[in-house]
Amino acid sequence: MSLPDINQLNKRFGSAGRIAFRAGAGGLPVAALAGPHGACEVSLYGGQVLGYKPLGHAPVLFVSRKAWHEIGKPIRGGIPVCWPWFGAHPAEKNKPAHGFARLQMWSMLTAEYSAQMTDIKLGLCDSESTRALWPHAFDLTLRVILDTTLRVELTTRNCDKAPVTISEALHTYLLVRDVAHTTVLGLDGVRYFDALTGQEHAAQKGAVHVHGETDRVYHDTNPECRVDDAGLGRQIVVAKRNSHSTVVWNPWIEKSKRMSDFGADEYPQMLCVETANARQATLTLPPGEQHTMALSLRADLKTT
Ligand code: BG6
Repeated sequence: MSLPDINQLNKRFGSAGRIAFRAGAGGLPVAALAGPHGACEVSLYGGQVLGYKPLGHAPVLFVSRKAWHEIGKPIRGGIPVCWPWFGAHPAEKNKPAHGFARLQMWSMLTAEYSAQMTDIKLGLCDSESTRALWPHAFDLTLRVILDTTLRVELTTRNCDKAPVTISEALHTYLLVRDVAHTTVLGLDGVRYFDALTGQEHAAQKGAVHVHGETDRVYHDTNPECRVDDAGLGRQIVVAKRNSHSTVVWNPWIEKSKRMSDFGADEYPQMLCVETANARQATLTLPPGEQHTMALSLRADLKTT
């Protein structure tokens, strides 16, 4: 996999003060976006948002200090793109977890800005390496729009002659002060699958509290939930479109110790609230059709 030339990227897509490219950790290319309402960073490797800082707020996204920044390995943090399957491959467990989009170098397609908004689009198409894992022609785009919120839109276009089946997630790692004092609001009464026990549950009771390893797929979720971070005194509003699942994940103590790209003491500082189409929300796209799943993140300070 070759690395794009940073100077060329800056010449073609850069705009002083708004969009710039640089070599990030591990030498991997990163697009830095700035606007009147904040800043964000997007890795071309993985098509992965790595940071988001709304003006006047603490950073919103978590990246592990032990994250790999190496081609062939996923980056632990930010917003990895899980595609074209979420979790383990449905049939072949030796294929990469969460698909291959987070392991590919994406191309820069467009970069634009206006007074209020900074907007870039990245693309990924099938290649010999993707067809070896998933034998389909596709066109995937990731649009990242920075204005008063951070919006991320993942569009799948089926370029194949046959229908394709996908599951997907924008696997958002939120940075929190202390996960034990953080709750997820907006999932009350929602059915969920508990990946730790393999059981379906009829309804979430009240807010989601995290007091141990948590790995759940909520079904038919509302278009908005809020992550209430008592320690930081803020709420992150996670709003979404064309996403029917919300995944809530925290590895807690024992799993953290088993993950070589995650600090054993880092689990209190993160909570994944993932915008997804997984399990029963897996979707089939006819040839030539496209589908966009979108996410927006907004930080709100709380007074109570
Ligand atoms: C979550 C899954 O989405 O991602 C968990 O529900 C999984 O089961 C977690 O452990 C992290 O996955 P990975 O492949 O990035 O280690």
